[in-house]
Amino acid sequence: MSSYSYKINGGHPLHGDVNISGSKNAVLGVLAAAMMIDGPCVLENVPDISDVKVMVELCRSIGATIESEIAPEGSVILHIDPRTINTYKATGASVSKIRASYYLLGAMLARFGKASIRMPGGCNFGQRPIDLHLKGFSLMGAKGVDPHEVEGGIITLTAEPLRGAKVFFDIVSVGATINVMLAAAKAEGTTTIINAAKEPHIVDVANFLNAMGAKIKGAGTDTIRITGVPVLPGNFSYSIIPDQIEAGTYMIAAAVTGGDVTIHNLIPTHMEPLSAKMREMGYCVDEGDDSVRVYKEEGSVITGTNIKTSPYPGFPTDLQPQAVVLLCLAKGFSKMHENVWSNRFQYVPELTRMGANINCLERVALINGIEKFRSATVIATDLRAGAALVCAAMAADGTSYITGANKIDRGYENIVQKLTSLGADICRVDNVEFEQDVEA
Ligand code: EPZ
Repeated sequence: MSSYSYKINGGHPLHGDVNISGSKNAVLGVLAAAMMIDGPCVLENVPDISDVKVMVELCRSIGATIESEIAPEGSVILHIDPRTINTYKATGASVSKIRASYYLLGAMLARFGKASIRMPGGCNFGQRPIDLHLKGFSLMGAKGVDPHEVEGGIITLTAEPLRGAKVFFDIVSVGATINVMLAAAKAEGTTTIINAAKEPHIVDVANFLNAMGAKIKGAGTDTIRITGVPVLPGNFSYSIIPDQIEAGTYMIAAAVTGGDVTIHNLIPTHMEPLSAKMREMGYCVDEGDDSVRVYKEEGSVITGTNIKTSPYPGFPTDLQPQAVVLLCLAKGFSKMHENVWSNRFQYVPELTRMGANINCLERVALINGIEKFRSATVIATDLRAGAALVCAAMAADGTSYITGANKIDRGYENIVQKLTSLGADICRVDNVEFEQDVEA
């Protein structure tokens, strides 16, 4: 994936309307789930982002037939026929490009009773073990789950048969919940997942599987009960839910630029953790049926607050970097507690180059409010950090460059077009151009 930069001339408040695309973290799980059904299906409202492209290529590499078309409003429609799948092995280098590739473990176990998948990649913010996934599979009868048996980064599991089990997760894990749910959908007997993750994308994967003929109850609660079925007929269309994190990013972009933006095609309940915090700080967040409007009343003062990330319905860790940008521009002192990942403040030095006043103590960032960011050349350390730096650059006066911008496009569909339509001055520059610009 070639790297390029975003050039941003900041200081323009965002105004107008923007539509949210389908959820990255839902569609990646749904694509893996589509690999275990026994008939064709159609996925609608699929976001046109690079992680989806990687996952589609991965599904094609095991033999699935996938045709794509662009819907009138610009989203992607995928026509999928998994009946042509001819292997349970996904061990090529591309598997390591994204973390969600490991969902093929659950899907291939469900389809073939065996799976051989290269260890996943994904953003590097601390340890990203898969012990909970392997614990779940082991309880369901899978062999080869000893993490020490991971040959050359490839995990090979066999489970003939795959049996339903009671799976208790010591900590809440989105990935492990989805992976075990996939395997359980076609296991013999019933599986109960206790202390399950409740994120909107968990519910979306469960709803997709139920539309294809599965029997899953309780998704979105702490306990999910799955009754395995021998066949998932498929033959259905399914539309991916809107992306909660993309929506939150645009809410924060509107706020930090001092704008007035209505964000459409979202589920307001999913935004509640962020909406509540933004109101606490002094922003106005007006909810519609499938939209929120973010603005600030003339003369109101934005004050700092404390935020703690936690699994849904808590404050999403994937909005943590963007929310820190919001706190940087609030009056007074704020704290951000990162309770999900062990090292998710790697972007702070980049924000500091833009004038932020932040001290990090392990999982806590102590933030002193500043008047304004200053433009700078900064590096996107990961997808959400990159989005946060875009927000800071739009709030700053002057020209900023964000290198490694390809990381941002992993999860934000048409971000340049969407921000430009709201009045931002942002464009993509390939690195050669950017180096000349910066030297000039
Ligand atoms: C998913 O990652 C998301 N990725 C992440 O979003 C998100 O940050 C994360 O959930 C938390 O919401 C996708 O959905 C593709 P976890 P995942 O398993 O499933 C520990 C983005 O920006 N853990 O919920 O990998 C783990 O170390 C990305 O869109 C274990 O200990 O996250 C972490 O501390 C970044 N053992 C915690 O659980 C395991 O076997 C939560 O991880 C699995 C996880």
